[in-house]
Amino acid sequence: MILITGGTGYIGSHTAVKLIEQNEDIIILDNLYNSKSEVIDSIETITGKRPKFYQTDLLDINGLEQIFKENKIDCVIHFAGLKAVGESVAQPLKYFNNNITGTINLLMAMQKYNCKKIIFSSSATVYGTTQIMPLTENSPLGVTNPYGRTKLVIEDMLKDLANADNEFCIILLRYFNPIGANQSNLIGENPNGIPNNLMPYICKVAKGELPELNVFGNDYDTVDGTGVRDYIHVEDLAIGHVKAYNKIKSNNGLHIYNLGTGNGYSVLQVISSFEKANNIKINYNIAPRRTGDVATVYADTKKAEVELDFKAKYGIEEMCRDSWNFYRNI
Ligand SMILES: NC(=O)c1ccc[n+]([C@@H]2O[C@H](COP(=O)([O-])OP(=O)(O)OC[C@H]3O[C@@H](n4cnc5c(N)ncnc54)[C@H](O)[C@@H]3O)[C@@H](O)[C@H]2O)c1
Repeated sequence: MILITGGTGYIGSHTAVKLIEQNEDIIILDNLYNSKSEVIDSIETITGKRPKFYQTDLLDINGLEQIFKENKIDCVIHFAGLKAVGESVAQPLKYFNNNITGTINLLMAMQKYNCKKIIFSSSATVYGTTQIMPLTENSPLGVTNPYGRTKLVIEDMLKDLANADNEFCIILLRYFNPIGANQSNLIGENPNGIPNNLMPYICKVAKGELPELNVFGNDYDTVDGTGVRDYIHVEDLAIGHVKAYNKIKSNNGLHIYNLGTGNGYSVLQVISSFEKANNIKINYNIAPRRTGDVATVYADTKKAEVELDFKAKYGIEEMCRDSWNFYRNI
């Protein structure tokens, strides 16, 4: 049995679908802070199977232990966490408590109930502002904001745990920029308020909910001066978790993988791909650079290819098409 924390969220729900499609038994835990319980209905509609759901907060130790008591959990895929960079700068303690304390509670419960396999949602943000591309799993680490710090602290805690107890098997997945949605259009990304990330912002402009997109900086040393990132379809990312789960079943120790495509696209390239894929014009405006942003970020994907047999298959236009097909229908 696999416990998916944050399983009604964006990446967790897509991963839940792929695991059910592989006939795995899953349970979902989420406090619904950033997602809705209707996602469980959508997972059932897509897969024909309704996962067991606990509306539980990782900060609620008794509630968490109850889940381990009631179910024989062999592996945890740990998505639950807060992820808004700007909010983390304004409210670091909220992020440290939710993400770090929440993870400590989870690990203590796992240890108590002898569950020693965990796949953790890390992020390319742990590479800090290093300039040498592509980023390999051995690139230097650093943080530029409290959200990134929570990821790095949790990575370090998990490394210490793997050193202390060699029965633990831990996989750290460093995601690049997930976009897109399941082709059912029933699950996808729908953040509250003004989005931090490019694709939800573009979707809101396309739907007329925001007047125009701000492009932060057009004087970077890139193909057209705008920032380049490695976008990965969330369906590919979900498959990456299934591959990681297949590996964790028969391994111990700690393993780290980048999950990206290895291709970078500039902001203007993403806008024009979106316009082409969906036949919609996106109004944008060039704004000053944001502090902390770097010109180009993309992954070296060889390690995941060799050790997990994972290779992303969707291209940027499919990502733009699926993001919009989901967002236009909500
Ligand atoms: N989306 C990205 O761009 C991205 C990139 C890199 C890493 N990540 C990481 O991947 C994970 C999943 O991201 P996502 O985009 O699906 O985010 P999301 O907000 O859609 O999903 C996270 C889920 O966790 C739940 N949650 C938060 N705190 C909780 C707590 N204390 N107890 C129980 N549930 C809690 C939320 O309600 C939400 O449903 C996060 O850890 C995020 O930091 C995301």
